[in-house]
Amino acid sequence: MQIQILHASTDRIVQCPSIWRVSVSCIPPDGATSSTVVAGILPRRRARRRPLRRVRPPPPRAPPRAQVQLPAGPPAVAGDRQPAPARPAPAPLRPRHGPLMSLRLGSSHAVVASSPGTARFFLKTRDLAFVDRPRTAAGRYTSYNNSGLFSSPYGAYWRQGRKLWQAELFNARRLASLEHVRAEEVRSMLGDLRAAAASSSAGGGRAAAAVALREHLFMVTLVNLNVISRMVLGRKYIVDGAGSPFTPEEFRWMINEIFFLNGVLNVGDVIPWLGWLDPQGYVRRMKRLARMLDRFLEHVLDEHNERRQREGEGFVARDMVDVLLELADDPNIEVPIHRDGVKGFTLDLIGGGTDTSAVTVEWAMSELLRNPGVLARATEELERVVGRDRLVAEEDMPNLPYVEAVVKETMRLHPVVPLLTPRLSREDVSVGGYDVPAGTRVLINIWAIGRDPAVWEAPMEFRPERFVGGGVDVKGQDFELLPFGSGRRMCPGIGLGLKMVHMILANLLHAFAWRLPDGVAAEELSMEETFGLTVPRRVPLEAVAEPKLPAHLYAVP
Ligand code: HEM
Repeated sequence: MQIQILHASTDRIVQCPSIWRVSVSCIPPDGATSSTVVAGILPRRRARRRPLRRVRPPPPRAPPRAQVQLPAGPPAVAGDRQPAPARPAPAPLRPRHGPLMSLRLGSSHAVVASSPGTARFFLKTRDLAFVDRPRTAAGRYTSYNNSGLFSSPYGAYWRQGRKLWQAELFNARRLASLEHVRAEEVRSMLGDLRAAAASSSAGGGRAAAAVALREHLFMVTLVNLNVISRMVLGRKYIVDGAGSPFTPEEFRWMINEIFFLNGVLNVGDVIPWLGWLDPQGYVRRMKRLARMLDRFLEHVLDEHNERRQREGEGFVARDMVDVLLELADDPNIEVPIHRDGVKGFTLDLIGGGTDTSAVTVEWAMSELLRNPGVLARATEELERVVGRDRLVAEEDMPNLPYVEAVVKETMRLHPVVPLLTPRLSREDVSVGGYDVPAGTRVLINIWAIGRDPAVWEAPMEFRPERFVGGGVDVKGQDFELLPFGSGRRMCPGIGLGLKMVHMILANLLHAFAWRLPDGVAAEELSMEETFGLTVPRRVPLEAVAEPKLPAHLYAVP
């Protein structure tokens, strides 16, 4: 959800872009662990304050002046020194208001949890009460009326979907059986990168000319697209272009659009009577995107169905769309999955699997480039464990604890989904002395938790060492580190997501020597973020890549 609240304060009504008007009131701690901010976002002429009902006597009102703004990211730091403690990073929607904050969004309430304790409450202690998703225009238009897992409301359809994902799509055997696909695509990316580095070098007339990493990171995205496309759809629909209605660039645009439109605060979702006006134009964009996605998915499903018919009795499912189509035809299935359901799940697989890992890898490379000491240690580990005569394989990961720690540290500082995906409360619940009524949206601010000095020592420093040999993991049990969420709605693609991030990053580091382009100092490297449902770099990363392994290792077999 993209929410911009600028200079909100207790005693002012602040003008925000377009039609929004924001009022914020703060209630200091009531002796419990939290303080609460109540913010109302209302259309003009209707602004009024309305705090959540309290179940305890109200504390004295001494509201501090609240500064709520989206973060600009930490300042860059030079050389191989650890970044000097940065100026305290402003957290999205969490300035100095404690671990629980309540917002009023049009006619609906939202609560933002910004501490491990409150995250645990919503995601574990009362997980079942907060397992639903809000109904949004994005779910309606871009996910076949909530037919995918991501936006599906809590109920029998979603429960069945989760079980099927676990049992049929993401079981260990299936993931292992597709390891060769991931390995081939990573190798192909390394080959492309090497060729691009060589041609750039030749063109510049210098031995190691700067190569725009932006293109290579696009390749990282393409690797993900290829891996996902081959695992989910059976072949490289997107990159080959053969038979695909869209080019890779168009497809990339569609993925960006999915993430953007699922992350925006659409006026009609919170002020239904304004929905028909679509003042931001988002619904128009959603409908256009939906038409393009449907053209692509219809094409994919038709091809798969044709093969099924052609092969008759001898048909064997080769990819995830085959599995989904078989499930859709299964007469014993508890809740029917229709064609839209197959398309909704397929979209989840494509959307969930592509941008998420690419964004993480780009942040990891950015942090490594401005922390050369960390980069050197990761590289040294790879050379020691893997050696210079082969690429990194998935089975190497247990022996690469430092690279694994780099990934965790990246996910702490740069979680791909900073507020997790919104949940919706199914019943009235009391938390920290305040009532959270049924129908409240719940956002878990893992971006703020990851940078909280009360939770992490020197939180703004990139120190993978903090995870080496330590117990904190990303699997949803440690509430200070939740890049994949936790509880019943936790990311079902965590196994695949981690494999892809590990393999892409480890091989990029192993196959190339990296540095920033000549003339760019580490402290100049922008670490600005763009906030939406996901948080990519605002400026794509550029760097110099020099191949360092024998040439045949980059060749695609
Ligand atoms: C680095 C990789 C990834 C990250 C950081 C990530 C992160 C997340 C997060 C934070 C959530 C919300 C969890 C919550 O609300 O508690 C989520 C949900 C989801 N993710 Fe991922 N994800 C990744 C990879 C994947 C992959 C590879 C897939 C599928 C191919 C996937 C599919 C999904 C789906 C379908 C949901 C919605 C689940 C539901 O609502 O029941 N994700 N992911």
